[in-house]
Amino acid sequence: TTAQIGVTGLAVMGSNLARNFARNGYTVAVHNRTASRTHALVEEHGSEGDFIAAETAKEFVAALERPRRLVIMVKAGDPTDAVIQEFAPLLEPGDMIIDGGNAHFADTRRRERELREKGIHFVGTGISGGEEGALNGPSIMPGGSKESYDSLGPMLEKISAKAKDGAPCVTHVGADGAGHFVKMVHNGIEYADMQLIGEAYQLLRDVAGYSPAQIAEIFRTWNTGRLDSYLIEITAEVLSHVDAATGKPFVDVVVDQAEQKGTGRWTVQIALDLGVPVSGIAEAVFARSLSGHAALREASRGLAGPSATPLSEAEAGAFADRVEQALYASKIVSYTQGFHEIAAAREEYDWDIDLGAVSAIWRGGCIIRAAFLDRIRAAYDARADLPSLLSDETFAREIADAQDDWREVIVAATRQGVPTPGFSAALAYYDALRAERLPAALTQGQRDFFGAHTYRRTDRDGSFHTLWGGDRSEVSA
Ligand code: 6PG
Repeated sequence: TTAQIGVTGLAVMGSNLARNFARNGYTVAVHNRTASRTHALVEEHGSEGDFIAAETAKEFVAALERPRRLVIMVKAGDPTDAVIQEFAPLLEPGDMIIDGGNAHFADTRRRERELREKGIHFVGTGISGGEEGALNGPSIMPGGSKESYDSLGPMLEKISAKAKDGAPCVTHVGADGAGHFVKMVHNGIEYADMQLIGEAYQLLRDVAGYSPAQIAEIFRTWNTGRLDSYLIEITAEVLSHVDAATGKPFVDVVVDQAEQKGTGRWTVQIALDLGVPVSGIAEAVFARSLSGHAALREASRGLAGPSATPLSEAEAGAFADRVEQALYASKIVSYTQGFHEIAAAREEYDWDIDLGAVSAIWRGGCIIRAAFLDRIRAAYDARADLPSLLSDETFAREIADAQDDWREVIVAATRQGVPTPGFSAALAYYDALRAERLPAALTQGQRDFFGAHTYRRTDRDGSFHTLWGGDRSEVSA
């Protein structure tokens, strides 16, 4: 027998993905650098389907039907290159290497180019949904050639999550690094969603005076409405959890320093290069990094804050409703920024990415899965060339309805000294985009003053310079 697919790298994600293929009726070759793990997988889960345990790279490659489909699930960066170098010489033209890790899309582009010269398809694939998703159905974002998707697509559709309407949460995102790019932005949005939820939590706690258990209930209610999403759902779970050792709310015994593995940071770094304002996502990354500066925070603890009084019980309920509005409006802005980044990359790298299709495959399986994504899809379905999600009528109207509350929440936060970088950045983005005039005109004047950097005029074409040091007349530049 030969295997239709092989998975090398059998840590949790790799093992679960291999089991998912096997449970869906595929014969799966499995391989790991240390063979004991391979045997352990087959021993523990062999009854779930057909596995072929391969001890060596050669055995692994020999077990695969041709053209070969070889999934590598190892750490991003050097380990991925090492595995590619190990297997590439054993492969033949037409074979496919699928990298399911959180690779940087620039690495994926390089690897795709190098392997293409050998006739091998390199399919950088974003996979979201954590361990549980890998086993029971993740959202899958493959890049690479169309030809590779013809061969892989049906298998990926089978193992992927299904949206509520039954559609598989996988699509051919675009050529070379497009899949990993889109996965990266997914993670940037994930950071922003988490930050916004965190701010909502802190406002409910410090301004409205609710307990974690009460806030869990509020999130549960929100989860039945337009905020219905995996992250809101698990937030309620985390907030209602009580630490067994101390009897305190779990959230009060965890060190308040958020870690990160890098994909959110990449989203912002690349947005800066592409010139795309992803301020909400950036604030989420900065908020994590600020939280980790323990010494700086310690040294700042005595700094003055406002003297404000928390809300009365009667006011708290109304405030919670406002926070829901602020959270929803800010969420629209983060997704607007994330999709803008994808659209800009599509232009830059000449990718054929369908933004509606991307929102559709995020409806199930992935960490940011949410009812909301159905609405984004509807927006792009209605108008594929939508300049921004904010130009969609439905979203524009929802923000119009939410904005008073959104502003009030930020005012209350400011008065009480509760930091809301996500809410505030989102509102600033919204107000800046809709502004008739921006102070950028003044910036241009300053640049022209100190560096003769020139400016354009509102009433005539061309570039101009004012002779600031002379008679202040204007010259064409
Ligand atoms: C997913 C997740 C996954 C990863 C997170 C955590 O889509 O399944 O995004 O890829 O666990 O990105 O990232 P941080 O450690 O950076 O928070």
